[in-house]
Amino acid sequence: MSTPTHIHRERAGDRRPDKHDPGTLSEESWAVHGGNRGDGGTGAIRTPIVMANSYRLPYDPTTLDETDHDTLVYTRESGANQLTLQAKLAAAEHGEAAAVFATGMAALHGCFFSLLNPGDHVIVSNVVYMRVFGLFDSLLPRKFGIEVDFVDITDLDAVRAAVRPNTRLVHTEVIANPDLRVADIPALARIAHDAGALLTVDSTFTPPPLLRPLDHGADLVIHSLTKYINGHGDAMGGAVIGDRATVDEIKAGPMVHAGGAISPFNAWLIMRGSVTLPLRLRQHCDNALAIATFLAHDPRVAHVSYPGLPDDPHHTRATSQLDGGYGGVVSFAIAGDHEDRVRFVNDLKVITSAVSLGHDETLIAYDRHPEERAVAFSPIYQRHGLIRLAVGLESGDDLIADLDAALTTTYGPAH
Ligand SMILES: Cc1ncc(COP(=O)(O)O)c(C=O)c1O
Repeated sequence: MSTPTHIHRERAGDRRPDKHDPGTLSEESWAVHGGNRGDGGTGAIRTPIVMANSYRLPYDPTTLDETDHDTLVYTRESGANQLTLQAKLAAAEHGEAAAVFATGMAALHGCFFSLLNPGDHVIVSNVVYMRVFGLFDSLLPRKFGIEVDFVDITDLDAVRAAVRPNTRLVHTEVIANPDLRVADIPALARIAHDAGALLTVDSTFTPPPLLRPLDHGADLVIHSLTKYINGHGDAMGGAVIGDRATVDEIKAGPMVHAGGAISPFNAWLIMRGSVTLPLRLRQHCDNALAIATFLAHDPRVAHVSYPGLPDDPHHTRATSQLDGGYGGVVSFAIAGDHEDRVRFVNDLKVITSAVSLGHDETLIAYDRHPEERAVAFSPIYQRHGLIRLAVGLESGDDLIADLDAALTTTYGPAH
């Protein structure tokens, strides 16, 4: 990530930079200024937190357009902080519009609820975040008659073979939680579009500037804002970004009627956190690569997954799509028995045992039975469990020393 990527490469550079025009700004500048309009009332240079539930109606309220969810009326439908965050995210992902929700799961559910009808068929990556797996494994088929095939998303022939006449959607994560397999977004977009279906991409592990799935053919991109985009582990949120008509439909349905609105305070926190996203991603990616390299060379470690490692099976596919790094999550397995692995995790002194990722602090989560929450797992993770390390912003040297010391407590020195 040494050279900053530009929001619109062809336009940046030949126009005078304007902080309100993403087309003229570099990545870092848009991260700082995007969506921020200040406050006309007080003159504050940052959009303040507006905790009001409702906004003054026009002189004649009947002139309001019921289908316009960007006019400030009622905070479940649109709030000042929600609008600024939506504007920032839409431009950052090269989309026309964004809808933000209370959580990543609300955004994902909102997207599927809006796009799918009873009897529709969906092809879903067989390794996805466990709650998304649950949505497709049980809730959507049981409640709405959605037909689902879980497929190894890295096997394009298998994806093609799964297409049915009623296939409406292909859904994947770019880098899958938790085994870090990497999807080929342009190839999946071609398969989906040839089938008359849409491609939805959860890009939570690869926020801009690492990847912009819409530029690679995806129809909608979804984020858990809870993770890297907020980046400080103190607010939850989710977003769906894409073309205006589809995003408007998602706002009209799940956001307005199902009521998954983000709180103004969380939207404001996420705006503030996102200011440093490009800077933070560099440290997340550099640290993760250093740690993955350390683990890959350590004889006490049974297996490491990280697409940034040259001999990772997904390295080439990741390199062809990602710009500036391979993300901040490293998954690995250590030998020994269950008690050894629990001891290792609890012996860490810098790294915290907790779920989530994309936080400033490094988090580790040991999952003894990952295969119960996804369809396909490599035998090594089935045998040893999977340890997901969500690498944070601390010094990489401190993190490696912490891992080394805890491995030594459990297994003795490496050599
Ligand atoms: C890839 C991915 N998508 C979506 C989610 C859900 O986001 P949230 O926890 O904000 O609902 C998560 C949560 O871990 C995730 O890892």
